[in-house]
Amino acid sequence: GPSVRRGQRHHFLAELSQCLFDFVVQLLPTPEELAIKEDVRKLLERLIRNVEPDSRLLSFGSTANGFALRNSDMDLCCLIDSDRLPPTASEMVVMVADLLERETKFQVKPLPKARIPIIKLTLAPTQGLPYGIACDIGFENRLALENTRLLLSYATLDPTRVRTMVLFLKLWSKRRKINSPYLGTLSSYGYALMVIFFLVHVKHPPVLPNLQVIPPLRPITKEDMHIGEHNIWFFDDTELLKQTWQSANTDGVGELLVDFFKYFSHDFPYNTHVISIRGGLLEKTYKGWYEPDPRAHDLSRDRNRLCIEDPFEISYNVGRTVTKDGLYTIRGEFMRASRIFASRPDRAFLALTQLCE
Ligand code: CTP
Ligand code: MG
Repeated sequence: GPSVRRGQRHHFLAELSQCLFDFVVQLLPTPEELAIKEDVRKLLERLIRNVEPDSRLLSFGSTANGFALRNSDMDLCCLIDSDRLPPTASEMVVMVADLLERETKFQVKPLPKARIPIIKLTLAPTQGLPYGIACDIGFENRLALENTRLLLSYATLDPTRVRTMVLFLKLWSKRRKINSPYLGTLSSYGYALMVIFFLVHVKHPPVLPNLQVIPPLRPITKEDMHIGEHNIWFFDDTELLKQTWQSANTDGVGELLVDFFKYFSHDFPYNTHVISIRGGLLEKTYKGWYEPDPRAHDLSRDRNRLCIEDPFEISYNVGRTVTKDGLYTIRGEFMRASRIFASRPDRAFLALTQLCE
């Protein structure tokens, strides 16, 4: 009868939570890998200081936000704190690339003319480093450092549920080939924002508070709150917050993942709405991000199929890389995942394995 089925479902979800957790733990980078990456960062920082003595080289992206899978790329950002007028990002790319070419074993590829100028570094695999190292160095990308800190704060508030969900989605989206912004799908950063949106704004009671609307404890200056015109304020004292705020939501991570796939398969209104971790569910018309006209062939209109507002650069759609076909594929994958979870009510481990095939 129905109560037996409910019992089975409950059992499946509990098992799924445990399996997910075990699954994700094996994907984490080892302490050795983290140590090597930190050594690489220090080495590069020391070298860059030959070009620009007042510079710092900081990690952002997955190596700094708690969402790193094993052997993931390094994202580094060089900041220059100088009273003199510092060189432009493209000048730095040329000078630093030149130096690294002479002084290191990295293969160096400068991209000074890109929208965001960067240097791409790669180190071929060796016995001690079987996957080599891939690293991008950018310059003065302060917003990326801040959005990394925001994601890290969310991960710190509820490490088990947030990290498990984001890491699993990263792995799943890579295995299912829907994590390629250059090929019309979505970046890992985009998937992480979808998870946080879901936990802050979709789940009732919410799993996470909205850190961008909690007021500061002490008044802070407008300069401290902004980078350019972008408001970068968020409540970052997670230690204090953990003492004073506790989620009333006790769902296990298995149940949350099943609901996430269900929501983004059937419930989220892709045509008309925007995912915003700052503001919740927003209308495209409110943002001026119009629905693509089905008769139009103008590709610029194809930028707003999947709308995910960046937490700080709010005019920027993180989902702009997603094409019509890309969205169709992504939604198809969400539906496939929902189907697998519905059809394997007794085998959590098999469901996860099948999901990531
Ligand atoms: N980023 C951004 N805007 C984007 C994409 C990325 O600001 N449209 C910044 C974010 O700070 C993000 C970082 O670049 O944390 C790295 O993005 P991404 O490579 O997508 O995420 P990772 O977590 O590093 O995932 P992966 O392991 O797949 O590299
Ligand atoms: Mg990365």
